[in-house]
Amino acid sequence: MVTTVANKDPIRVGVLFSETGVTSTIGRSQLQGTLLAIEEVNEAGGIDGREVSPVVYDAKSDPAVYAAMAERLISHDRVNVIFGCYMSSSRKAVVPIVEKWNKLLFYPTLYEGFEFSNNLIYTGAAPNQNSVQMAEFMTSNFGARVYLIGSNYIYPYESNRIMGELVLQHKDSARLAERYVPLQAQDTEFRDIMKDIREKSPDFIFSTVVGDSTASLYRAYADAGFDPKKMPIASLTTSEAEVRQMGADVATGHFTSAPYFQSIESEVNRRCLERLRQRFGEDCVPNLCWESAYFQFHIYANAYRLSGNDNIGEIMPHILGSEYDAPQGRVRIDPSNHHTCLYPRIGRANSRGQFTIVREATRSVHPDPYLVTHSLGDWTASLSMIES
Ligand code: ACM
Repeated sequence: MVTTVANKDPIRVGVLFSETGVTSTIGRSQLQGTLLAIEEVNEAGGIDGREVSPVVYDAKSDPAVYAAMAERLISHDRVNVIFGCYMSSSRKAVVPIVEKWNKLLFYPTLYEGFEFSNNLIYTGAAPNQNSVQMAEFMTSNFGARVYLIGSNYIYPYESNRIMGELVLQHKDSARLAERYVPLQAQDTEFRDIMKDIREKSPDFIFSTVVGDSTASLYRAYADAGFDPKKMPIASLTTSEAEVRQMGADVATGHFTSAPYFQSIESEVNRRCLERLRQRFGEDCVPNLCWESAYFQFHIYANAYRLSGNDNIGEIMPHILGSEYDAPQGRVRIDPSNHHTCLYPRIGRANSRGQFTIVREATRSVHPDPYLVTHSLGDWTASLSMIES
């Protein structure tokens, strides 16, 4: 008689975020979101009785380190799947490596769109799930004369281009300026820009500044004495984590468009935040990228249970079309483009360091990473005003 012995070896997965460097505040939260989900899976008995064992590397906010560590995870640690990356420059560095080895990257970050890889699952927002809603909200509440300012790399260039095009659909619109600062920019580098903003007097500022210099931008704005009620900053990346860095007083009144805010009042979100705090205390600041990092691991684990392994060819059919009750609502991986159906929301930063949700989609919005449809009016029907 032949008896088969069930494989009880741990399942090794790669986890690649920045624990140090300019984007480490978000990177650490993404790591904590991933580890929380892994612990939940392990506490519930693992995947088919096998413990999940994360191999974690610090990519130091440097695309070259991302590339080197991705190569190491695959060729040395023998993982089939990597959970990781924040900046689009780091994703662009890892994509050729997962494609070369035919492995899988789960990417939990909003980004500029216009990309597809058979070896990626994108669980952050595409521009039709954040930029379109932000453009509609800002132009209808403040006007369409925009000042664009970003960090010096691909996501800001592309995201500013998209915002500029969206805003120009509005009457009386203008792209008043497009300015870029280094990733390590300090308060002084924003002072000149504030002078220019005073001269040009936009209706709103669209910030694609990321990482530590986000706090410097908002502080320079506050020091210049500008009023967020009249000329706010709108962003897709300024989350609760950056707000904690800059201080709630500096952030209050500015807007962010994201599928997730800590303030979402749902049982799933409340319970998830409780578990996170039990595990990591107040060290972790949950935000949109934390949430994507959290739910994408559960999507992977559920797919693995169906496929029995994580070879890309076998697990992918179980990932595509799969759904999960995430803290933001029920999300779904779109089989046609590997992006995720998400819930656009607009939040206004408040004095508690949180976001008051002022608009939210009544249902999830299908990802359209190539912005095939992107007129401002197409999206208003899916949004309901909660509080003005
Ligand atoms: C980003 O670089 N995708 C925020």
